[in-house]
Amino acid sequence: MEMSPEEKFKEISPADFFYRNRDIAGFSNPVRALYTAVRELVENSLDACEARGILPDIVLFLTIEGQASSERNVVRIKITDNGGGIPPEHIPNAFGKILFGSKYTLIQSRGTFGLGGKMAYLYGQITTNNPLEITVGYRKKIYFFKIMIDIKKNEPIVLEREEKNNSKKWNGTIVSFTLEGDYFRAFPKILEYIKLSALVAPYANITLIDAYGRLIRFSRSTVQMPNPPKETLPHPHGVDVEMVKRLAEENRKRTLISFLTRSFHRVGKETSSRILGQLNLSPDTVVGELGLDEIVRLTQALKNYDGFLPPDASILSPIGEALLKEGIKKELEPEVLAVESRKPQAYSGHPFIVEVGIAYGGRITPPEDGNAII
Ligand SMILES: Nc1ncnc2c1ncn2[C@@H]1O[C@H](COP(=O)(O)OP(=O)(O)O)[C@@H](O)[C@H]1O
Ligand SMILES: [Mg+2]
Repeated sequence: MEMSPEEKFKEISPADFFYRNRDIAGFSNPVRALYTAVRELVENSLDACEARGILPDIVLFLTIEGQASSERNVVRIKITDNGGGIPPEHIPNAFGKILFGSKYTLIQSRGTFGLGGKMAYLYGQITTNNPLEITVGYRKKIYFFKIMIDIKKNEPIVLEREEKNNSKKWNGTIVSFTLEGDYFRAFPKILEYIKLSALVAPYANITLIDAYGRLIRFSRSTVQMPNPPKETLPHPHGVDVEMVKRLAEENRKRTLISFLTRSFHRVGKETSSRILGQLNLSPDTVVGELGLDEIVRLTQALKNYDGFLPPDASILSPIGEALLKEGIKKELEPEVLAVESRKPQAYSGHPFIVEVGIAYGGRITPPEDGNAII
């Protein structure tokens, strides 16, 4: 059968995909778009500080620059942080290429896919067509960039680039851009989000300057920070065929026994020998010689073996009971407060920790209908 001439095939870039499906990233209406954008930027700043053990100092400016329709304002978001900045060669992609980021590792962070911040800039660009302005203090220089995103190609377009000496040794990032959003409906949600962020990060200074020029400051009450998370190897219970294939590709020259013990978390020599014995594979086989069916069998064996210790929780950075208590006291001054950090647990090879705080009274606003919320 002949194909009808109307059928046209083409490929779209990741930026184009998220442009067409921006609702899945939280940019579905003017209220959510503004709220999500602020959230992504605050999280990037907190991530940048926490990953380096820096006490966060974050200032967020919101200004209304114009009116797009009765419910849409042109809002400028500007955020400054002291999180150490970004190496200059990565600045264009970090801010102008969707799915590019530094968090594709097995380590806890707020961002994951190299997407969040860029969705905010992309949304800003398609609604207001202004470039994104980035200033980064990194080592001996201060870099300034004006960037737009080529959505069809998923590439940054650098409109301006300048650098000067960093005489005051400031290390951090300033991002400034405009987008359409419903400022007045989004504002209470933004304020609530920042308050909750201050509550779980009592070691952060977060300042908000709103569209009326009011300054709302959430000050740190402690200089104690949670231990930064450590990167680890994948736990065998969380692997799949694709992952084992990739790891085998990177370790083609190793013997099976050294591959297993060096590439996976909680896999020692004895366990490896036992698993290889079950599979009738010799520990001295070179990884590059494995066929695809052997990789599939090895993956199944790793997933199903129940003798591994659960993953250790060092890739996590729990707040901990003391800091959680500190944060809740600082923001809510409750009459009654109880906190609990449970022991780490694992699901499919991924560790997690449940941390809870329950508080009553003080500055907690009672619900309007009189029903208590716990
Ligand atoms: N304020 C910042 N300070 C330092 N690095 C940042 C900052 N904002 C973004 N980045 C870098 O840009 C990358 C992309 O950010 P983003 O698009 O939000 O994706 P994600 O946070 O999911 O990685 C981050 O992984 C990080 O390396
Ligand atoms: Mg992010």
